[in-house]
Amino acid sequence: KRLILIGPPGSGKGTQSPIIKDEYCLCHLATGDMLRAAVAAKTPLGVKAKEAMDRGDLVSDDLVVGIIDEAMKKPSCQKGFILDGFPRTVVQAEKLDEMLGKQGAKIDKVLNFAIDDSILEERITGRWIHPSSGRSYHTKFAPPKVPGVDDVTGEPLIQRKDDTAEVLKSRLESFHRQTKPVIDYYGKKGAVAALHAEKSPKDVTSEVQKVLS
Ligand code: AP5
Ligand code: ZN
Repeated sequence: KRLILIGPPGSGKGTQSPIIKDEYCLCHLATGDMLRAAVAAKTPLGVKAKEAMDRGDLVSDDLVVGIIDEAMKKPSCQKGFILDGFPRTVVQAEKLDEMLGKQGAKIDKVLNFAIDDSILEERITGRWIHPSSGRSYHTKFAPPKVPGVDDVTGEPLIQRKDDTAEVLKSRLESFHRQTKPVIDYYGKKGAVAALHAEKSPKDVTSEVQKVLS
């Protein structure tokens, strides 16, 4: 399966991805996670991306298309993949279709994590992540067994630099202006399924399973 997960910041893409990935043996390609790793490692890519990410703006199409093009070549991605946070502009979507077209492949489903903006601030400001695995927790909705510590590795959790109420506003603005049109782009191809992303994580998982079965 070749899947795209689209939704605003905090809508649950990163929470559902590992579950879908394991169930269908797909690779999980999250441009945000890859960019954050590049920023942490201070690679040339990370240096270029950092400012836009800190402001809550999108990084350039060329940069992210390059990352995805590279990542999709991995052997583990040949059976199928989950794109989490990509494509986020219509230009990125067109480039993706072009890349897949060359292999005679196409996107099977676009899962639209539909949710009201008003719910997102609490989700974003309460999130804690384990940076090396990408696992995320929430102080209220998904607390770790020990506060501030990853359940699996025992390593410390951190908060993302862009997870403030202030930066969330620009991230939401980018979503509505640049990413919503991507939903229409795939809608015209009949590939979009809408989810009730305001429901509990378990209920959202059930909706995903229904769509994919
Ligand atoms: P990215 O990392 O993709 O961030 P985002 O799209 O803003 O999405 P989030 O990761 O914030 O939300 P999520 O949907 O994964 O939520 P989660 O499941 O963790 O991108 C970051 C930046 O990188 C961008 O701003 C941009 O600068 C750059 N970038 C990335 N891709 C790009 C691209 N393609 N083009 C250009 N620039 C790009 O959940 C959030 C919290 O809520 C967690 O604490 C979780 O535990 C909790 N939660 C989840 N589901 C539920 C539920 N059902 N009920 C209650 N709580 C829940
Ligand atoms: Zn995410």
